[in-house]
Amino acid sequence: MKSGVSSFQTDGTIMIRHGVVILVALLWFSTAEASQCSINGLPLVKNISEFPLHNYGRSGLSHTTIAGSVLHGMKEIEVWLQTFAPGCRTPIHRHSCEEVFIVLKGQGTLYLAPSSHSKYPGNPQEFHIFPNSTFHIPVNDVHQIWNTGEHEDLQALVVISRPPVKVFMYDDWSMPHTAAKLKFPYYWDEKCYQTTTRKDEL
Ligand SMILES: *[C@@H]1O[C@H](CO)[C@@H](O)[C@H](O)[C@H]1NC(C)=O
Ligand SMILES: *[C@@H]1O[C@H](CO)[C@@H](O)[C@H](O)[C@H]1NC(C)=O
Repeated sequence: MKSGVSSFQTDGTIMIRHGVVILVALLWFSTAEASQCSINGLPLVKNISEFPLHNYGRSGLSHTTIAGSVLHGMKEIEVWLQTFAPGCRTPIHRHSCEEVFIVLKGQGTLYLAPSSHSKYPGNPQEFHIFPNSTFHIPVNDVHQIWNTGEHEDLQALVVISRPPVKVFMYDDWSMPHTAAKLKFPYYWDEKCYQTTTRKDEL
């Protein structure tokens, strides 16, 4: 009888230990995943200076997603902070979302080919952009942001609708719209987009 109880207690202790080990492993795993692919566990008010910056293979670019769909579960909008070193530019591209830029510092050029019924973007209009300037890109208008300055970084806060962004990229302004290459998920969504998809499936 006594030995039966103690054997039960031993089994129970082992089960509890197993449970604790699994729980700790799960917590560790979800925290490790959270630190890369979500803001779970981070404070509500965050310090932008401590956000990770990446160039996603584009020399002179520094991007951070301040509030994102894939990363943070935003449904309607997404906010980026982007810095372009002198000479750095975005691809010529379009997307079927609204986009608002607020230039925090630096200067540059916005190239914009208003949507038309022609088969390719054609010669873009050029706009000088400067500190404290703001502009929006109409849905599907082909555009490019270029730090045409020689010395200073161009930095902007960017807000888009309908995330995650689906980007169609053009080699040049005469490339037909139908030939533009879709990049989805976009570079900064790539790493965590898969994770999100897997979570949804489970
Ligand atoms: C935000 O982060 C930067 C860089 O780590 C740090 O210097 C600054 O003190 C932080 N601000 C606050 C209010 O903690
Ligand atoms: C941008 O303009 C607003 C409105 O006039 C002003 O309050 C703000 O200080 C300006 N910011 C910069 C960085 O110049």
